[in-house]
Amino acid sequence: MDCIRIDRTRSKGTIAPELYGHFSEQIGGVFYDGIYVGEESSVENIHGFRKALVDRFKALKPPVLRWPGGCFSETYDWRDGIGPKKDRPRRANWWYSFDHRVESNQVGTHEFMDFCRLTGAEPYLAANMTSVPALHIRDWIEYCTFPAGSTTLADERAANGDPAPFPLRYVGIGNENWGGGGQMSPEMCAREYIRFSTILKSLGQDLRLVMCGANGDDLHWTRGLMAEWAKRSWQEMPTWGVSIHYYNNFLYGSDPLTFDEKGWYDEMFGADHTRRILLNHRAAMDEWDPERKLKIVLDEWGNWHRDGSGPSHGFNLFEQQSNMRDALVAAVTLNIFNEHCDILGMANVAQLCNNLHSLFLAGGDGFTVTPNYHVFDMYKEHQGGRQLHTEVQAEVLEREGLDPLCTLSASASEKDGALTLTLANLSLTEAKTVTVEGLTANAAGSENNARTGSFTVLHAADPMTVNTFEDPEAVHPVTETLGVYEGMRLTLPAASVAVLRF
Ligand code: AHR
Repeated sequence: MDCIRIDRTRSKGTIAPELYGHFSEQIGGVFYDGIYVGEESSVENIHGFRKALVDRFKALKPPVLRWPGGCFSETYDWRDGIGPKKDRPRRANWWYSFDHRVESNQVGTHEFMDFCRLTGAEPYLAANMTSVPALHIRDWIEYCTFPAGSTTLADERAANGDPAPFPLRYVGIGNENWGGGGQMSPEMCAREYIRFSTILKSLGQDLRLVMCGANGDDLHWTRGLMAEWAKRSWQEMPTWGVSIHYYNNFLYGSDPLTFDEKGWYDEMFGADHTRRILLNHRAAMDEWDPERKLKIVLDEWGNWHRDGSGPSHGFNLFEQQSNMRDALVAAVTLNIFNEHCDILGMANVAQLCNNLHSLFLAGGDGFTVTPNYHVFDMYKEHQGGRQLHTEVQAEVLEREGLDPLCTLSASASEKDGALTLTLANLSLTEAKTVTVEGLTANAAGSENNARTGSFTVLHAADPMTVNTFEDPEAVHPVTETLGVYEGMRLTLPAASVAVLRF
């Protein structure tokens, strides 16, 4: 019998809202004709931002949004993106050799901050550590955070339309410095980070700085980075977190639209591997940071399929369609984040629109949310909740070299007197009937003494179904009201995601 037990007496603490963070890079179609259509567009917009997307994104209560890269950051000059739009330079950028598109800089710092303001997300800047001096980044942060009237840069910001400082706390220094960010060694990356962070510290702002961590399973990077970092004291280096990037199936280059049974479970094992990534890196960090002052910041995660399946037919770099397989990957991953909220400080799904594992697809008048969007919507009440320990009993699959995969994934939290239990049935073909224990303080219950709750299920008869501009509701969640009682049974269709709230 499949079963979930919730133990309200055991908790790892609060699920930081930032675990439900997002990432938007200046790449391909993420901004241009995606998030941003321009004020002159016939597409309904707010300050140039696609209104439909602003509204749906805001509804998720997005805690944080990372920008402008990714790799894009490592050749970005923030001064290109300020001042009158007509005067902003067009630049070849980090991605130019991939798609031969130039960056128009119509979206720069003020526009990004405006988008954050419109949607309620907190900004997280990814600063260039590879191709500009530390002073250049110091100037950017001064430009953003100092009160008008205090410095020349603050006055320049005010003259450019924003007298009030931007509410900036999160700053990542460097991106993938083991690869596109300068092909550094971990020691070199740590040294560069120390230089930049020391200079930023001189600004005296309350910043949460993130150091560039590893790719996937690369523990060698984490150890090298931490060993160098630990040569400095906390006083000198105000570091808040260490980033990790983990893309599921990057190397398989799988087709996003179709899959066989193996292709389905490849991705389920890949998503479940997120737990191993977090635990292994944390263990490696422990040697130099035994008190666990540093947070893990998984600031890029998601499915990476082959290009070309999205509405732009390959014009937008990395743009992908997504279906229930991607929704399940998101659901499993977010359950793991909740379970490890004690070591994870932030996570940012890659990327928001017209890219990898996106929540939105858009172009011209066309717009749709993806199944992945619905998962974030169904899980949003976990943000800020008190994590509750859950134990799951269900069929387990084995693969050599990987942790056993439980075909039922769950996590629970409570907030403001309401309990949220999210579930994912990883089985491609079998529905599950799941008994839920620990829902209420009562030893046993029945429908007679049930409380009213809601049960939302995301499922598609064909798990390869995608939402398109023509049929944006093809995959959508369905909610029913039901009686919630101790020991109740929930039915989860094969390949489905669900949330119980009461
Ligand atoms: O998300 C796309 C790219 O993937 C990012 O720019 C980079 O950081 C990663 O390799």
